[in-house]
Amino acid sequence: MTTQARPAFGTVLTDHMAVAEFRDGQWSPFEVRPVGPLPMHPAAHVLHYGSECFEGFKAYRRPDGRIAIFRMSRHVERMRQSARQLVLPEPDPQQFADMVRAVIDRDRAQVPEAPGALYLRPMLIGTTQNIGAAATPSGEALFIVLASPVWDYFAGGMKPLRIFVEERTTRTASHLGVVKTGGNYAAALGPTLAARREYGVDQVLFCPGGEVQETGAANFLLIREGKILTRSLDSTFLHGVTRDSLLTMARDLGFQVEERVFTVAEMLAWVKDGEAALSGTAAVLAGVGTLVTRDGEHRVAGTGEVGPVTRRLRAALVGIQTGENPDTRGWLEYV
Ligand code: PLP
Ligand code: COI
Repeated sequence: MTTQARPAFGTVLTDHMAVAEFRDGQWSPFEVRPVGPLPMHPAAHVLHYGSECFEGFKAYRRPDGRIAIFRMSRHVERMRQSARQLVLPEPDPQQFADMVRAVIDRDRAQVPEAPGALYLRPMLIGTTQNIGAAATPSGEALFIVLASPVWDYFAGGMKPLRIFVEERTTRTASHLGVVKTGGNYAAALGPTLAARREYGVDQVLFCPGGEVQETGAANFLLIREGKILTRSLDSTFLHGVTRDSLLTMARDLGFQVEERVFTVAEMLAWVKDGEAALSGTAAVLAGVGTLVTRDGEHRVAGTGEVGPVTRRLRAALVGIQTGENPDTRGWLEYV
């Protein structure tokens, strides 16, 4: 694959993966191998009881050939927290980071130049063979690091997104929103496809009981000059590293950042003249153009375009990641 080709997000992997096995209470040393099928027993715990979690973060090519990884330690900690909540063996933080660095180093030539990036996808699965283990954790596991050259997650780049506001269903169980596990994405798929069919939207914003949470694969922010409003951290949604990065930068830029519960009614009032956006590793900061409710359509800031403050914050974040802006907070590490 040349670095100029732009496959859809996640459809192409680099040539190598790193693999470690958990058995008899400890992690094996890891191996870097060509990407290929895994030998998997049909009774493996993950195939029956969904014992799985994953992470997603990016690394960026620098003109001098170094590769900069963005806030890896945050993702390592989030994955260890997901593993704990799913009662899976926790990856060792040092080994996790070494596996990521080893894959990047091995496939260095496949890391695209900006605006592309290398998307790292660590995954942890329960492999104990026991179809009766519905209420027993998997004592054996595989931890694998995959890598994928990526560009835009949303087809159309900076095209303003159409979002359906879903008040009737939840994205996932209220204690599991904070866990990055495959089952949450499976749970959101049906409502997302239904909303796509019915309302022609890109994504669903889950707002159970009228409280705004997040979309299927990104956090949600309300933005205007000098001010940001987003839901305060609780167990119902994923605590995005991008969300944290944007809020930190915005505070440093003098924005007033409010983290609290807010309602659909408040959001619809905000977007009459304010902006709205999705934040995430894949989404970066993607502007929302239209919020669609069962009662009608609401054009963000009256225009339905991606707003200027959203564009500015996105550029400030991407600038740090790609090296155009200084990394004053130690968010990058180099391979
Ligand atoms: N919420 C969900 C459901 C996600 O899948 C993601 C993506 O990882 C996010 C939020 C944003 O998290 P982060 O910024 O750490 O990528
Ligand atoms: C990410 O931003 O890392 C995500 O998890 C999105 C992914 C589901 C494609």
